[in-house]
Amino acid sequence: MAGLFITFEGGDGSGKTTQINLLASWLESEGHTVVITREPGGTDLGTELRNIILHREGFIAPRAEALLYAADRSHHIHTLVRPALKRGEIVVQDRYLDSSVAYQGAGRVLDPTEVRDISLWATENLMPDLTVVLDVPASVAKARQAAGERQYDRLEAEAEDFHTRVRESYLALAAEEPERFLVIDGESSIEEIHEAIVVKVSDLLG
Ligand code: ADP
Ligand code: TYD
Repeated sequence: MAGLFITFEGGDGSGKTTQINLLASWLESEGHTVVITREPGGTDLGTELRNIILHREGFIAPRAEALLYAADRSHHIHTLVRPALKRGEIVVQDRYLDSSVAYQGAGRVLDPTEVRDISLWATENLMPDLTVVLDVPASVAKARQAAGERQYDRLEAEAEDFHTRVRESYLALAAEEPERFLVIDGESSIEEIHEAIVVKVSDLLG
């Protein structure tokens, strides 16, 4: 495939949206066509699934939750991401399959390898060219969100030790695949983080 697929991962409030917008602006200023998208919710169907997954009241069985994320992902990759990559565009995406491994795995109910395999099946094995992890302690992310007065969704309301397990899972995934991941200290300044990402992406673009 001709394009470039870049995903952003990290806890809620780690700075993904901020850095995605900065990176997209920079890429556009360099003359690239950029698609900004996210999971869950990058498509019409995805918006409906996102509402169910994040805002439905009451229990969702762990495997059902994992399959809802995978259904969103499958449709998103098939209808939006792969076509953009085929056109040679750069897709900058907020969350992808590592989110499923980290979050659904952190509940300690599902096997992380099985969760990953479901996403690989759902996407016909599409892996990102680069995954940026913005690494911040759960307490810092929480404080940032509280300051922003955003409404908490189902997962954000989980206890702090859940978010600490999510963070540890990201670091473990990055250690397993160092060539795909760029882990950045999310407590650095917005500008410093952006610069580090630009260096890496420039490298990938050649
Ligand atoms: P996410 O998309 O990961 O939830 P956001 O980009 O929305 O994160 O950032 C959450 C909050 O933290 C926002 O108020 C944002 O301005 C702030 N923020 C983002 N990056 C930094 C940073 N490096 N240092 C301090 N605050 C930051
Ligand atoms: P979202 O609100 O889009 O991101 P953020 O709060 O970081 O700006 O994230 C939606 C939530 O869904 C987030 O708490 C992580 C969770 N999630 C999973 O549990 N599994 C997944 O596969 C994905 C994509 C997200």
